[in-house]
Amino acid sequence: MKTIIEPFKIKSVEPIKMTTRAEREQYLQAAHFNLFGLKSEDVIIDFLTDSGTSSMSAKQWASVMTGDESYAGSPSFFKFEKAVKNLTNFQYIIPTHQGRAAEKILFSIIGGKGKLIPNNRHFDTTRANIEYTGAKAVDLVIDEANDPQNLHPFKGNMDINKLEQFINMHGVENIPLVMVTVTNNSGGGQPVSIQNIREIKQVCLKYGLPLFIDACRFAENAYFIKMREEEFKHTSVEDIVKELFSYADGCTMSAKKDALVNIGGWLALNDTKLAEQARNLLILTEGFPTYGGLAGRDLEAIATGLEEVIDEDYLHYRIVSTTYLGEHLHKAGIPVVRPIGGHAVYIDARAMLPHIAPLQYPGQSLAVEMYLHAGIRACEIGTVMFGLQPDGTEIAADMDLVRLAIPRRVYTQSHIDYVIEALTEINENKQQLKPMKITWQPSQLRHFTARFSMVNSNLNNQLLQQAFVK
Ligand code: F0G
Repeated sequence: MKTIIEPFKIKSVEPIKMTTRAEREQYLQAAHFNLFGLKSEDVIIDFLTDSGTSSMSAKQWASVMTGDESYAGSPSFFKFEKAVKNLTNFQYIIPTHQGRAAEKILFSIIGGKGKLIPNNRHFDTTRANIEYTGAKAVDLVIDEANDPQNLHPFKGNMDINKLEQFINMHGVENIPLVMVTVTNNSGGGQPVSIQNIREIKQVCLKYGLPLFIDACRFAENAYFIKMREEEFKHTSVEDIVKELFSYADGCTMSAKKDALVNIGGWLALNDTKLAEQARNLLILTEGFPTYGGLAGRDLEAIATGLEEVIDEDYLHYRIVSTTYLGEHLHKAGIPVVRPIGGHAVYIDARAMLPHIAPLQYPGQSLAVEMYLHAGIRACEIGTVMFGLQPDGTEIAADMDLVRLAIPRRVYTQSHIDYVIEALTEINENKQQLKPMKITWQPSQLRHFTARFSMVNSNLNNQLLQQAFVK
């Protein structure tokens, strides 16, 4: 049978407010054409992120009620610790309020000026936390990752030759650890193979370097391994996950992804001295080591989420339904990054809208039209996000993508079909899409708050009139 049915029934629903194009024009003008400025209730399908947006199961909500809120030594912590240890087998499990808090603690200890941290590709917050300490974050992903049409099955892999050259060039003493992000979010949600992790581990052993995993989407990565790596096609996802972590000395985790909860994370490691330093910092910024910035009920929900996320029926639905969206867009002639990743579909807006130059933000133009046309909110990952240089000048980013990140267990097949129809219609009239201009921006992280106008559009005139009336 072809139809992938959601492997769950819906017990509790959240209404979606339906809006008209005219209403959405007003909302978008009020938000200065920046989708981060919208009220989420004015969005029909929200693909801004898959982070913290999962639906929790009835069992998770039941475990929330059993949460124990003691300051120290709560049974909820021990349940959480046991669930994380069961999958990762790390010795020390340190809860944090989300992934970046774990990164902040880890890199405050091992980072600093002159240090370099290699990764397949760092996520923005990881890079920012490393660079905040004065260290440098370096990406060593395989070249295939930079070609949106290359169908390599593990486009998240690290280039082993680049890694060895990097270590030899910069000196092992300046590299506190090697990191691998599964799946590679910044590179299209692409997986890393066990073969690659083994090779990275060999290099780490040769030079005496610890290996850490950015584990946000470990279960989705494990399912890709099961589907695409011959050796593992008969191995359970749980065993693949355990094997993946067995090569590492620690991990950072955002539980807002593959622990199926709305908040949470952890830092896990084996090094006793590092764990002690991390706990000291944790007390300073997050809280006592048995709650680390979370409530007991959050720890319970994570423990249950970790059981559910390795369920293979769930993972099959998750990966196949993301592929369904991506491949249908591809068939409709919309350029997307392929193979389709685990948590998101990335549209190549630069290729789709050649009449809009990179410095006129084709990704922003497409994201704006998706909202105006159908109330879909997605995220530009391109020149708006990366184009502004520290000296205030602007250059085109490597790619102008729009990410449709899919919340876990939230939308049904008809929501996804609606998105496919909407994008097909937009693609048919793509010549109408307008270049964008930035009218105001902050000096850093401009994509969150920048204000835009649409070049040659009467929407701006209405905006001016409104401003005048006010
Ligand atoms: N690492 C990766 C690979 C991530 O994708 C994220 C978050 C983090 C670390 C940080 O975790 O948000 O809990 O502090 N990614 C979200 C996203 C924000 O939309 O991709 P956090």
